[in-house]
Amino acid sequence: MSNHLIDLKDLETDEIKELLYLTDRFVEVSQRPIPKVPALRGRTIATLFFEDSTRTRMSFDLAANRLSADVLEFPTHTSSLSKGESILDTVETIHSLGVDALIIRHYSSGLPRKIADEVGAAPSVINAGDGSNAHPTQGLLDAYTLCQHFHGLAGSDASLSGVHIGIIGDVKHSRVARSDVHAYTSLGATVTLVAPKSLQPSNPEDWPVQICEDLDSVLPTFDAVGLLRIQNERMEEGLVPSVDEYIQRYGMTEARAADLRDEVVIMHPGPVNRGIEIAETVLDNRKNVLIKQQVTNGVPVRMAVLFRLLGSGVEVD
Ligand code: CP
Repeated sequence: MSNHLIDLKDLETDEIKELLYLTDRFVEVSQRPIPKVPALRGRTIATLFFEDSTRTRMSFDLAANRLSADVLEFPTHTSSLSKGESILDTVETIHSLGVDALIIRHYSSGLPRKIADEVGAAPSVINAGDGSNAHPTQGLLDAYTLCQHFHGLAGSDASLSGVHIGIIGDVKHSRVARSDVHAYTSLGATVTLVAPKSLQPSNPEDWPVQICEDLDSVLPTFDAVGLLRIQNERMEEGLVPSVDEYIQRYGMTEARAADLRDEVVIMHPGPVNRGIEIAETVLDNRKNVLIKQQVTNGVPVRMAVLFRLLGSGVEVD
């Protein structure tokens, strides 16, 4: 694995499995009365979030704290970027301050890779979501959540073989879908994308999946369902006819949930549009809705990533 985590496509399957195995260790650490280890003491990590975030930002902060690293939050709205300093000069400045890793979320697809290419070996660059391109730690935590659900933990040879996963919604614009598909298929799962034509990928041949428009024809075949957030601007762009039609064709309504086998799991990366991607009663009451577990697993997964990139030669404990 390189010094950076930009896209799961850059990782060999064994490297993904290694991160999930390491996550098992950090799940155990997270369950201790004092869930903290000294592994990254003396290391400094900067978070640069140019786009809003709750889950990713807070879980990276918590992960770094639990590894005893120092965390610096880059003030995106009050930095010298407003005086015309370029993003690459800003990164160079942060590196000169002694920062070991940059965690970057940006609305522009490809920016974390451009920064990683520019900085070379250090500091480590971790993509916390770039445009519609990739969200590698979300892909890892979603895969981990499924491994944990079906097998208790990931283990040294994590596998989702025999699991059929449906990813439903705005696949075309979703960085989560891209990273999830890579993580799931690397572990042997079968994936079907379900979306209206307007929200299907424009280059379907590049996706190792089946693609389908009619949710109800494939829903009974799924073992796990991943719902994607529908963004308001897609309605404004006319890519989705109306909220009501979206719910009727693609929503996890009470009726659809009632038809699912009890053991089928429902996931969503968040934030959820209650009542649109999923009915409130399903979200709040159905068994095997794993959304809170996904959030919980965000911390040990991100501990694993930080430890793998910055903890060379260090023991977990
Ligand atoms: N899933 C996810 O990336 O959520 P946030 O935008 O809250 O980080």
